[in-house]
Formats: sequence, C-alpha cells, structure tokens
Amino acid sequence: MCGIVGYIGNKDTKNILLDGLKKLEYRGYDSSGIAILDSEINIVKEKGKIVNLENKLKLENIQGNIGIGHTRWATHGEPNEINSHPHFSSDKKIAVVHNGIIENYLELKEKLQNKGYKFISDTDTEVVAHLYHSYYTDDMLDALCKVLRDIKGSYALCIMCSEHKDKFIVARKDSPLIIGIGSDENFVASDIPAILEHTKEYYFLDDMEMAIITKDNINIFDRDKNLIKKEVFKVDFDISLAQKNGYDYFMLKEIFEQPLCIKKCINAKILDNDIFFEKFSITNEQIKDINNIHIVACGSAYHAGMVGKHIIEKMCRIPVNLDIASEFRYKNPILNKNDICIIISQSGETADTLAALKLAREKGIKIISIVNVVGSSIARESNDVLYTLAGPEIAVATTKGYSTQLAMLYMIALKFGYIRCNINESTYKDYIKELQSMEKYIKNCLSLEDRIKTIANKYYNIENAFIIGRGLDYSASLEASLKLKEISYIHSEAYAAGELKHGSIALIEDNTVVFGILTQDDLLEKAVSNLKEVKARGARLVIIAKEGYESLRDIADDIVFIPNIKEEFMASLSVIPMQLLSYYVAINRGCDVDMPRNLAKSVTVE
Ligand code: F6R
Repeated sequence: MCGIVGYIGNKDTKNILLDGLKKLEYRGYDSSGIAILDSEINIVKEKGKIVNLENKLKLENIQGNIGIGHTRWATHGEPNEINSHPHFSSDKKIAVVHNGIIENYLELKEKLQNKGYKFISDTDTEVVAHLYHSYYTDDMLDALCKVLRDIKGSYALCIMCSEHKDKFIVARKDSPLIIGIGSDENFVASDIPAILEHTKEYYFLDDMEMAIITKDNINIFDRDKNLIKKEVFKVDFDISLAQKNGYDYFMLKEIFEQPLCIKKCINAKILDNDIFFEKFSITNEQIKDINNIHIVACGSAYHAGMVGKHIIEKMCRIPVNLDIASEFRYKNPILNKNDICIIISQSGETADTLAALKLAREKGIKIISIVNVVGSSIARESNDVLYTLAGPEIAVATTKGYSTQLAMLYMIALKFGYIRCNINESTYKDYIKELQSMEKYIKNCLSLEDRIKTIANKYYNIENAFIIGRGLDYSASLEASLKLKEISYIHSEAYAAGELKHGSIALIEDNTVVFGILTQDDLLEKAVSNLKEVKARGARLVIIAKEGYESLRDIADDIVFIPNIKEEFMASLSVIPMQLLSYYVAINRGCDVDMPRNLAKSVTVE
C-alpha cells in the first residue's frame, strides 16, 4: 500500500526511481509520481499505472542526482494527478512523499490555513509539506523533528529541499522504510525489491527514527536528534526470487514455489525427528502453564489462524480465541496472565495486526509472531518470531505465504502438544514424519494443473460461487473463496456446509456452482448430505476430495482427488487446486492476476 523510492548518486535518477516504483507495484497503487532536484525541484505525476507516468516523463527533460518517487493507494481524496505524491510546499522548494495516514491532518490544515498556507489537494500528506515549510529555516533535521512532534498517525516520509542539493531526509512510524547502502550512492524504499538490483545491504528504520542521506553518508538519528548506530542487514534471498523467471505472473510462480518453501520452512525447525524453536524466550514451563492462546491476523493469515486454532485445540487442549485484528483491537479483549498471543502476518506490516500486537503486549501478554518478511515491524515488536522463510511474495494474493503459515502452526501445535504431554512421543514423531513429506504431497497436487485448467475453462464465466466444507474443510473453503473472489472478481461465499440450511440455501438455483471440499472422515457423511441438498436444488458440484472418496464421483459434475494424508494437514493440500483454479479462472476472465483492482499487498493503513 503506497510505495516510496528515493535515490541519490551519479546514475540516471529518473530510471532508478521508475524502476524502483515498478518493483513496488505489487503493493497496490492507483497513481504515481516522482520529484527530481536539479537547479529546482521538478515534479511529474500521473493517475493510473506507472506506464502512464513513464510516458509522460518521455515528454519532459528532467535530470538530476537526487530524487524521490511514490506510488499512491488513495485514502484521502480520489486517485487523480493533484492528489498524487510528491507534494510541494507553496514555494515549490520542498517536496514530500508519504506512506501512511496523518490522523490529525484536518486540525493541522486549519492551523496552516489560518497562517495563510494554500492547499491544492485533498490529501493528508500536503499538510506535511506546508508544516515542514513552516518550520524550515536551514536545518532539515530540525524542521523534520518539529513536524514529527505535531503529526499523529503512521508515516514513512521522504523529503527533499531545493536548497540542499546533496541530501534528502526520511522518517518513519508504523510504515515500513529501509535505507539501501550503496557505494557513491544511496537509496530508500518501502521494500527490498526496489533496491535489490543495486545493493543487498540496508538499514531498517525503526519507529520515530530519522535519517539524513547523502551520496556518501547515511546518518540515522533518534527522536531527540541523537546520532545512532544501526545494524546493517543483508538481503538473504537471490534476486531471481523477486523476478518472474519465465512465468506469466508472480502468482503462478509463487504457487509452484510452495513445495520448496514448505520444505525450507519445515527443515529449519526439524532436527532428528524433533521440532526446535531456537532462541525462544518462552520456556517449556510457561508452555505447560498456558491458559489461553489468542490468534490474531487479517485476511488469509486469519484463515491460516483458523486452521491453527483447530489443530492447537486438538493437539494441546488449550482453548484458542481467534480474532480478526481490526476487531480484536477495539473489543477490549480479555487477556489474562498465562495467555499468549500468536500474531500471523506475511508482510509483518499490516497496520491492524501490528496495533493488535501492541495492545496485547501492553497488557503483558507474550507475543509469538509468524512472519515472512525478515525484520518487519511485527517481527521486531514480538517476543519471539518464527520466520516462514517463503522468500519475497510479490503477487497480491498470498499463496506460499499462507501455506508456510499453516506449516508453522502445525509445528507449534505439535511441539506444544508434546511438551504438555497431550500427545505421546510416537504420535509426535509420526506427525513430524508426515510434515517432512509435505513437499512431495504438494508437488502431487500441483501436478493436477492440467485437470484444473480444464475445470477453469468450463466454469470461468460464472458470476457467483459457493464453497462449502465442514471443520477444517470449512477453514480451507474460506481461503479458497477469498482466492477466487480477489483475483477473478467472481462473487464467492464460503459456508460451513451444515449452516447452509439456515438461510443461504435460498440462493441456490439451477446451475449455481458449488465447490465442496471433503477431506475429513468423521464429517464425510454429513458433508455429502449437504452437497446432495444443493444438488437437489439444481446446483452443479465441483468437488475437491481426498483419494479414497471414490463414491463422490456419483454426485460430482467435476471432481479432483488430492493425496490422502493425516487429516489435520489436509488444508495444506486442498488449498492448492483452489489456488490454481482461481488463477486460471482469473486468466480466462482477462484479470490482472498479480495486481487485482483496489487491493494492496501490504495493508499499512487501518
Ligand atoms: C489475500 C491476502 C490478504 C492478506 C492480509 C494480511 O490473498 O493476501 O488477505 O493475507 O492482507 O496480510 P499480512 O499477512 O501481510 O498481514
């Protein structure tokens, strides 16, 4: 959600900014712009895709050795050229890009208007440009410090002044920002892919930190302007992981990366048939004493949490409260001593999830987070982090991120269950063995690609779909439904199969397509009855079933069989055909699979 890029050095600033912005396209945006400082600051911005900005820039001769760029996902004001970033101060001597939300912008705007400042956009960001101008004398850091004292909300800010041709200045709170370390050049960006072609070394800026960046120097300061020393991070993945490598879309590439990602995620924690969470601050005694676990997340990560709840309750007999982060933070949750909180987030930057984490931590609850992006805000704010090691996930719709979250939740359930003596050693080892075969089983599901393509060709023009299942299959249905709707724009609803009769079955008519997920022995009979109920009302049935449920062929219009593994892990397999199906349906409908409309990869606003 919004992307920031900044460059200072001797190379072609315009191209570096444009290229960086393209690498951040996955975050979601609806307009873009750049500012380059030469004898004065030149700003070019445009509504829509970056290619529009690129075309506009071809008509302008803009050059310089320092510049900032931005992709905007509209929050305050429609996505048009005026509201796009960068924003100027009225004298055009200051240019600002911003990711986040200035919550008290109206109050600040009024004060600035009273002082004579004229606003031209509807954005909250323009306040920062004028406010900065109101404080600026000649000291860029001092002015920024004063701005940060006034503004409330979340921000990653990057600011240029025409009087300082050798530096720009940045700050952050609750929105990601990294500083890429080059030689004779330096960078800033919202995320690693934007700088990866130029450098693998970078600093993370923490909340309330600021930095002055020149071509040869990066000076980082705390909120009181004290110079601080920061750890240098090194990108631990290859650039090819952030490229399509011959696939048409990142999403398909990421779907096919899942066997390897799962293997990596599991192997990092399993040694000699045992699960280890190294450097865990929670002791075995504390694990034995846990009263309640709170799982908090958004979207697909929440769906992973639902599977986690099921399995943790089964393996550990610990009650698990599962909450959507945006609900959790406002419901005054009941958090007691001996509770722990599991926070799940691929990006590690989701604003609501981060706020929920902070709330739980303030109440003294230990936080274990399951995060993909190394060093992200959620990872850094947690007591213990379990990295899923899926590598960069570029497609907006998560696939490998979700799958590795499931794997990590299985390992937590198994380890905690074993420590608490709820499962014995042979069961524990048995499940670990099955987990180690997960790579093979997922490959097996991926080999169904051609069969799924045929099904996608048959059903791609439907406008509504229902996806039903019971127990763990219901959790899988929720994720399957989200995948389908977010990338193909087909209206899709997931239901607990037994719940249909309580109202929603009224929507079933001739030819309505119902997807059924059936992988749980003890629920099979009941789920089959539910499928027959919709079939009797004219529905066409597409079934994802585990091998062995051959009799389902009799009621299915189309059926796909997936490997029969331990039932607790079946959600990891049933999701794969649904990811592929969603992908091919979306392709058939001509959708932009990697960047679905209105969506952003990293949801850094509430
Ligand atoms: C859907 C999807 C989203 C995310 C959600 C949370 O495909 O990707 O629903 O799961 O926005 O994001 P993270 O996991 O980054 O906190």
